[in-house]
Amino acid sequence: MRRLIPVVLIVLLVAGCAAAGEREGERFGGTGPFTLVIGRPATAYLQPLLDRWNQAHPEERATLLELPEAADEQRAQMVANLQAKSDRYDVIGLDVIWTAEFADAGWILPLERSMFPLDRFLPPVVDTAVYRDKLWAVPYTSNAGLLYYRKDLLAKQGFKPPKTWEELRTQARTLHERYGIGGYAGQFLAYEGLTVNFTEAVQSAGGQILSQDGTKVTMDVARAKAGLNFLVDGFREGWIPQESLSFKEDEAQLAFEEGRLAFARNWPHAYGPATTSAVAGKFGVTRLPGLNGPGTGSLGGYNLAVSAFSKRQKSATDFIRYFTGLENQRRVLTDGSFPPVWAELYDDPALIKRFPYLPVLKQSILSARPRPAGANYNQVSLVIASAVSNALTPPFEEAGDDVVASMRDQLDEIIRAR
Ligand code: GLC
Repeated sequence: MRRLIPVVLIVLLVAGCAAAGEREGERFGGTGPFTLVIGRPATAYLQPLLDRWNQAHPEERATLLELPEAADEQRAQMVANLQAKSDRYDVIGLDVIWTAEFADAGWILPLERSMFPLDRFLPPVVDTAVYRDKLWAVPYTSNAGLLYYRKDLLAKQGFKPPKTWEELRTQARTLHERYGIGGYAGQFLAYEGLTVNFTEAVQSAGGQILSQDGTKVTMDVARAKAGLNFLVDGFREGWIPQESLSFKEDEAQLAFEEGRLAFARNWPHAYGPATTSAVAGKFGVTRLPGLNGPGTGSLGGYNLAVSAFSKRQKSATDFIRYFTGLENQRRVLTDGSFPPVWAELYDDPALIKRFPYLPVLKQSILSARPRPAGANYNQVSLVIASAVSNALTPPFEEAGDDVVASMRDQLDEIIRAR
């Protein structure tokens, strides 16, 4: 009898484990090869990082599925796929602005916070993955707008990197006239990138477009107009080149690398490639300028989520844990020139030596403002991008007041329709 007890206990324990495993399996079950889907800007350096995982996990190989560069196109493809409940995606590289929409639609699964070292990550970055008090994704790479400038040309004119729009305007105009190059450009094609550039301009004039939870239009006409005018004036006066109306991140990066721009607004990942371009050694980065001093950028980046329709959710979750771990995060910076999410990497002296802009980047991320977190963010963004695009296109007929007032009315309508 005595000898029987441990056997019975073991049987019971094993049965208990199996039951728990099954229960967990219902939500995060399934192992095997899986697919990571993510937009192209974040993929140039990814394959070698995936190869490391694949070598260690031959049964759970990760395949990369690259989506186009523009955020709107990435979203459109993902939405089409997830609406069809397809199991084609397992790990989803989610732009920080999509958390609410994808969570509300039931396309991604809430994750267990204790599985990830969130307290070691930059706090505003973690906030982008939280919606209605649940964690829906794990921060993977952050992003904040920076001002790239030609330090050689500035030095020749005795200019210091601009802190205000007025300084930027004077310098961009001078360099444009003297060297026949574009003064300044950002992402001015009508898509999410333009929404970001306009939002940053409004914020950098001390304004805000929507409340943080996305439920109220808080746009102050005077401040929004000041932000809009910074851009419209550039086009009207010629120091922002016309061709930048078709710029996304890539085109702005290329123009700067080829020496066609004195100043460019871009994300940090443009830094690495520029160090091996025609402007290598001739450029610097600083915070975005604003109306009365340094401006306020928008927080960008990608978080990794598990598709609700994946059949490999356990492998997907294990991979996310690995990929957002410290060792891999270091590579995100060193190999990809993308901003990592682990706070301590920004204070690492060896990394600062190699990437002297890290302190500026950390400051830019910590002071950047997240875009509003509503599930209908996409509609909001379309209204902003299309109104701003019209305003930036010659012959600049519409007055700034009218553009801003009609944008405010349209945004009000979207918010009310929620
Ligand atoms: C970058 C940012 C992303 C943003 C997009 C806009 O990829 O990381 O958050 O939405 O640019 O173009």
